[in-house]
Amino acid sequence: MNDLLLRALRLEPVDHTPVWFMRQAGRYLPEYRELRGDRDILEAVREPELAVEVTLQPLRRMPLDAAIVFSDIMVPLAAVGVPIRIAPGTGPVVDAPIRSSADVARLRPLAPEVDEPFVLEAIRLLRMELSVPLIGFAGGPFTLASYLVEGGPSREHLRTKALMLGDPSVWGALMDALVEIVRPHLLAQVAAGAQVIQLFDSWVGALDPTDYATHVGPWSARLLADLPAPSIHFGVNTGELLSSMARAGGDAIGIDHRVPLDVAWERVGLERAVQGNLDPAALHAPWEAVERKALDVLQRAAGRAGHVFNLGHGVPPGTPVENVQRLVELVHQRTAR
Ligand code: CP3
Repeated sequence: MNDLLLRALRLEPVDHTPVWFMRQAGRYLPEYRELRGDRDILEAVREPELAVEVTLQPLRRMPLDAAIVFSDIMVPLAAVGVPIRIAPGTGPVVDAPIRSSADVARLRPLAPEVDEPFVLEAIRLLRMELSVPLIGFAGGPFTLASYLVEGGPSREHLRTKALMLGDPSVWGALMDALVEIVRPHLLAQVAAGAQVIQLFDSWVGALDPTDYATHVGPWSARLLADLPAPSIHFGVNTGELLSSMARAGGDAIGIDHRVPLDVAWERVGLERAVQGNLDPAALHAPWEAVERKALDVLQRAAGRAGHVFNLGHGVPPGTPVENVQRLVELVHQRTAR
């Protein structure tokens, strides 16, 4: 049993730095595209055998140190009855956005065993197959709220921020409702066998530190408090939020590629693990460039306990599979102790 990720999250010594990739199962793999066909991803995840197969695909290609269950951050919202579809090439679309207290009142708490048994079944099946730790996950409160309030992907999050700043009581009720969905989702995944949890608050970097600390951090803290498994707390563009995110919680903080890893680690605090942070776009460059940038990340990690190698965000579609495979090999070789 490879427990390197679990050891790294506890800041214990490891034989080599563990490496996995956000979106390691996905469209850059031809076998993924073939298996998924033109099925909607929210449909695909309802079939546990299919979710298991997609989860395992990248592990057959390369010796990754973790698996992440094939699902989506919108799954628990769809499971409580929010009408959601994933528009190809765009992202999640919510046709009836949530903007008033009446809208918020329609969000009911999640009962995982009833509402999303397929997620838990995929996790149970995966645990029988895997010899690396299995990561379960959820969307973070700001990211989920943004999809619900905007009705789809957004660059500026204008409606979301207008609600947050203009009607803090409705915002607070929305955050409370999301905790009642996401917290059971996380606990049920751990009960089913997930050994690590990642909270993807991908778009939280749109906020300034004061708004983060007032309007999001307290709810992230409720989600991450006293989980029965170690957790990774991730967002993009979070350079100015890292210390505040660390205060909200997470055994490790996920770092995107816009902050050098050593600088980010100082902000997070050296007593905490970090995950990251190669620029995913580098994987589209020739191997020599990938290698140079990956070695820079490793140099900044300085062989310290508590580093989990990852990208700064997900593997983009169109990434050459060979570069991803060589990257795993490079991290393993160069960090062997
Ligand atoms: O391998 C893994 O990382 C596990 C699978 C996973 C998916 N979504 C599958 C997926 C994970 C961890 C997610 C999380 C997720 N979903 C996030 C947080 C991570 C991040 O990227 O910041 C977010 C913001 C979403 C919302 C979402 N779902 C987006 C933006 C998209 C892309 C839409 C598109 O077509 O470009 C999705 C769909 C989605 N989720 C895909 C996958 C593999 C692509 C669907 C496809 O196969 O075409």
